Amino acid sequence: MKKLMTVTTLFISALCNIASQAAEGDVGVAADMGDRYCTTCHGVDGLGNIAIEAPRLAGMEAWYLKRQLENFRAGIRGTHGEDIQGIAMRPMAAKLSDESIADIVDWVGDWDFVPAEATVDGNVNQGRTAFQSCAACHGANAEGNEALGAPALAGQNDWYMITQLRNFRAGFRGSHQEDTYGSQMLTMSKTLRDEQAIINVVSYINTLQK
Ligand code: HEC
Ligand code: HEC
Repeated sequence: MKKLMTVTTLFISALCNIASQAAEGDVGVAADMGDRYCTTCHGVDGLGNIAIEAPRLAGMEAWYLKRQLENFRAGIRGTHGEDIQGIAMRPMAAKLSDESIADIVDWVGDWDFVPAEATVDGNVNQGRTAFQSCAACHGANAEGNEALGAPALAGQNDWYMITQLRNFRAGFRGSHQEDTYGSQMLTMSKTLRDEQAIINVVSYINTLQK
């Protein structure tokens, strides 16, 4: 409940920023806009914010960032009724023009990649075994594979990856009929049998470097 309220408060403050910029007529100027509202939730320099479960954006591949913003905007992601964090993010992308998305991708590209700190401590050996099937798409070092549309996982916030794996497994993410990439990941998430398997594989990913 507390978390939901924090997200709601930030959400309102982000919307106020957007509204005040609209009044000033500078919506669409990514440097200003991003400063004022992406980092409200995604943290200073886009390093992620655990309090509202907004992940690290710094170091994210341009093609993946672009696709997620387009998917949120189109309602392909962040519309499932139980996808609490996705629902918080979706309105942030809903009004972006193609030009704004391109500007944001450039702006985020300037932030330094800083691997996130580990917050979970699962069974790394079991995680390594499970990761063998993930490597086919995400790469042996979880460095990502653009040709397959699979993003880098190395360095991403572990708490965020855990939420996403739970959401894919439950069908809160990846079940929209136009979500071609998400649906592949939804299928793959079923290979992780339970919560512990999720924690183990993420603990192994924490040991990898991009
Ligand atoms: C109100 C808080 C909030 C604001 C403001 C916000 N986001 Fe988010 N964003 C989130 C949350 C929470 C998530 C996690 C969604 C999920 O779990 O699926 C997220 C997810 C994302 C993702 C998906 C990351 C991934 O690895 O798939 C991208 C990309 C993103 N946001 C970009 C942005 C950009 C760019 C802006 C500014 C235009 C922005 N966000 C503003 C809360 C916010
Ligand atoms: C068939 C290829 C494929 C395999 C195998 C695969 N994935 Fe994925 N994964 C993807 C794609 C594609 C996406 C991006 C989905 C999207 O665009 O929304 C993704 C997304 C993710 C995300 C969300 C990243 C983010 O920033 O939001 C996580 C976490 C993830 N995969 C973990 C895993 C793990 C762990 C495994 C092994 C159990 C695995 N993947 C196996 C293709 C794959």
